[in-house]
Amino acid sequence: MNHPVAVRAKRFSSKILDEARFFRSWVENPLKTGAVSPSGPALSKLMASEAEPQRAGAILELGPGTGVVTKALVDRGIDANRLIALEYNDDFCTLLRRRFPGLAVVQGDAYALKQTLEGAEDGSLASIISSLPLFTRPPAERRELLLQALELLEPGAPFIQFSYALVPPVPAEPGLFTVERSPWVLMNLPPARVWVYRKA
Ligand SMILES: C[S@@+](CC[C@H](N)C(=O)[O-])C[C@H]1O[C@@H](n2cnc3c(N)ncnc32)[C@H](O)[C@@H]1O
Repeated sequence: MNHPVAVRAKRFSSKILDEARFFRSWVENPLKTGAVSPSGPALSKLMASEAEPQRAGAILELGPGTGVVTKALVDRGIDANRLIALEYNDDFCTLLRRRFPGLAVVQGDAYALKQTLEGAEDGSLASIISSLPLFTRPPAERRELLLQALELLEPGAPFIQFSYALVPPVPAEPGLFTVERSPWVLMNLPPARVWVYRKA
């Protein structure tokens, strides 16, 4: 059995390595990475708590990065075999495959969602959890991504998104989709909020 101090030291060095990977990705492509370090545990846990695994179908994660939200989903008891991770960055995809056996990792562009997830049927997903830096894209592209995502979801199922902004990444459109917001997660740096969209 590993000594608790050794376990803690290993976790700490893995966290530092993830911070470094993330920072390098931000330096190489700030608009795509969208943050200088991974989301903290409080935000990751809140994101994961909004998923609805009681619904049928897979749970899709957009922009999993180093896998902090993926881990929160698995820690919540959701089997990695039920998760699909769609990530743009090659190094993050390799890391996710190594870190989460059974996880389906798809490398590609989330903004071409239906094309990237070729074969995924409308209404087939239980939840979508997105950490994409939506505000780096024009409003029309964000809206188009959300509409594609809502089509893939079972009617009423959540599209979960975090942001650091005061306003929602896509404003609600009564009759088409609703949005609910969480309180600020002050334990995250920077503080963030979680937005949950559903088809009206
Ligand atoms: C703000 S980071 C979030 C990472 C992680 N989920 C977290 O909360 O720390 C955004 C992630 O989205 C990925 N990403 C950005 N644009 C993307 C796109 N168009 N398609 C797929 N992934 C994308 C980035 O590579 C990065 O891993």
